[in-house]
Amino acid sequence: MTSSVVQILKYSTVGVIEVNNPPVNALSQQVRQGIWESLENLENDNDIKAIIIHCIGKTFIAGADITEFGKPPVEPFLPDLVNKIENLSKPVIAALFGTSLGGGFEVALSCHYRVAVASAKVGLPEVNLGLLPGAGGTQRLPRILGTEKSLEMITSGKHYQVTEFENTALFDEIYQATVDLKAAAIDFATNMLEKRNLKVRAVGQQPVLQDISDWDSKINKISLKARGKKAPVVAAELLKNTQALSIEDGMKLEREAFLQLKDSEQSSALRYAFSIERLTTKLPFTANTLPVKRVAIIGGGTMGSGIATAFLASGYQIKLFEQNQQALDAGFERINDNFHRNVKSGRMSDEKMNSCLQHLELCLDYKQLSDVDLVVEAVFENIEVKQQLFKQLDAHCRPDCILASNTSYLDIEQLTDGVSHQQRIIGMHFFSPANIMKLVEVIKTQHSSEQALTTAVSIAKSLGKIPVLVGMCFGFAANRMYARYGREVQQMLLEGATIEQIDNTMTDWGMAMGPLSVQDLAGIDIGYNARKTRPKPEYDPGFFTASTVMVENGRLGRKTGKGFYLYENGKQIVDPQAQSLIDEAKGNFDFQQKDFTNEMIVERAMTAIISEGLSLFKEGIVQRLSDIDAIWLHGYGFPRHKGGPMFQGKVMGSTVISDRINQYRNQSCIEIWPDVDVQALD
Ligand code: 3HC
Repeated sequence: MTSSVVQILKYSTVGVIEVNNPPVNALSQQVRQGIWESLENLENDNDIKAIIIHCIGKTFIAGADITEFGKPPVEPFLPDLVNKIENLSKPVIAALFGTSLGGGFEVALSCHYRVAVASAKVGLPEVNLGLLPGAGGTQRLPRILGTEKSLEMITSGKHYQVTEFENTALFDEIYQATVDLKAAAIDFATNMLEKRNLKVRAVGQQPVLQDISDWDSKINKISLKARGKKAPVVAAELLKNTQALSIEDGMKLEREAFLQLKDSEQSSALRYAFSIERLTTKLPFTANTLPVKRVAIIGGGTMGSGIATAFLASGYQIKLFEQNQQALDAGFERINDNFHRNVKSGRMSDEKMNSCLQHLELCLDYKQLSDVDLVVEAVFENIEVKQQLFKQLDAHCRPDCILASNTSYLDIEQLTDGVSHQQRIIGMHFFSPANIMKLVEVIKTQHSSEQALTTAVSIAKSLGKIPVLVGMCFGFAANRMYARYGREVQQMLLEGATIEQIDNTMTDWGMAMGPLSVQDLAGIDIGYNARKTRPKPEYDPGFFTASTVMVENGRLGRKTGKGFYLYENGKQIVDPQAQSLIDEAKGNFDFQQKDFTNEMIVERAMTAIISEGLSLFKEGIVQRLSDIDAIWLHGYGFPRHKGGPMFQGKVMGSTVISDRINQYRNQSCIEIWPDVDVQALD
């Protein structure tokens, strides 16, 4: 039997079911059908004594086909397929490599034997999609590894290296990474058959290894860590409630819980998040990428050293450039600290750190930049300083070297006026801390070539970042939207909301940090100085008054020990004095005072962000509304299970958003709440 995605191969008494469904061998209906029919075919073949499930390509099955989740289900269903495997009259062996995830791992769990290469990873990442394992994973894994480990794996959604399971019942053989897996699995089956050792071992018929006694405290911890996400808690409760049940009864409850979660708004937001972050690299043009091996980072401050760390960690050859030895030494120390923090937290081995740091060269002379393929400048946010720098880069770098600015808001065309070969100039705007935050805005000037942009996107991807292509405007897409959010927050402070109320409301809603705590962390003077480069909007009398008052009273944020809050030994403390300064400043205006509820704060903040997002889309600064969501998820700690502001806008619907914009506009003016194309949300 052969289909386009599943075929049968026979090696003497061993039948191999080979799945070939690129890119990740997801369990589409065709794959499920193909495996089902192959099992029947091989079961009825008297010459065949053992069956191997193996995949072509870069991985064993990486899960159910996510693209089918929104469509009506078509038979054979995955739970029926895994039960068919387990109940087959001939032994079935799964041969794992790459990432065997979700439904793919569940297929492996239902097989009677599992062999893998040492480089393989397994996991049940369904909670990351707002789901739980829906094809026996919550039932078979605890029968193999016990409830304790299964609870951890299922509620964390992490990927695990198979070597972690050496000497457990999960794997029968783990081979060296370089082995020919199919041949090794056939050898395994043949040897076992010769020894008459190969049996049909149905995991489902074994009891669950119940090794948890304090379920309630464990579920409580999982719930606190989930911060509003439902799936990990539902999964934990399911494990607890089904541990004494038969596989049939357990799988019935598992299915019910899976289907309920699948239809929830959280799961649809999380699945949306998964798909949009892969969409950002799809550009509206096709161009070849330029080879980039050697990269120069100009400026060893917090941003520059973070960017250098990110490049070094991904194997690039880095030249860190500074103006003097002292600044260069300080830059090196920052990079060194970043790596040591990675090692300390277990994210990186000592060997990896040392090999990365060997790729770092420290430079003080522009002549040393003559052979680099890409420059990312992260010097002080000052037009003259950057203009001078670009002149030097123009004089010393190759004409085909891509020149990228990491400016957060300055006009890149102005910074690079007069520089030759303008097509190589772009923006690459990283977010702080640059070695950790995933967002990178790739900024297109009117001259940037498609090749330079494509190269920047692919480099950012190689760093494990989420690159988003954006056009030129003040603050580009991300900071422009964050400033709009900030403006509304500041205005609410002048209309009666308090610092603490705003921050608590937004974090309770799911934002990683409150907007005023963010300002304290970044330095309130940064936005203050950026705003000074532009005329104050006459139509907006209260424009960032609270921030201005803080800066003018020497409260620049964490770095000065006080801003919107006080900081003592790194701890944030509510400071009535900061609130009094704002209350005093309110006296200069006659804004109507309101009794803000938490809902009012969220609604107004979200509407402002959505409205600005719609403006950016209308102006062509972003390609798609979903790119805006990627920006918020990866740049500003937006709760992933809420999809992003534009996803929220779609959930609320264009009519509601339009009504809200009109209502706020009536209270202020059209310049602040401009006409936008709300239909883009439909
Ligand atoms: N279904 C459909 N498409 C999938 C998919 C899936 N499960 N997993 C990945 N893809 C697609 C991606 O959308 C991407 O498509 P594109 O090329 O059009 O953008 C392509 O495969 C390659 O994916 P990545 O860019 O992510 O490739 P990587 O090599 O970086 O990562 C991966 C591979 C680790 C497998 C990663 O894609 C991943 O984590 N996938 C999701 C795995 C998952 O969540 N599985 C569980 C699904 S739910 C389930 O199984 C329910 C069951 O319990 C009933």
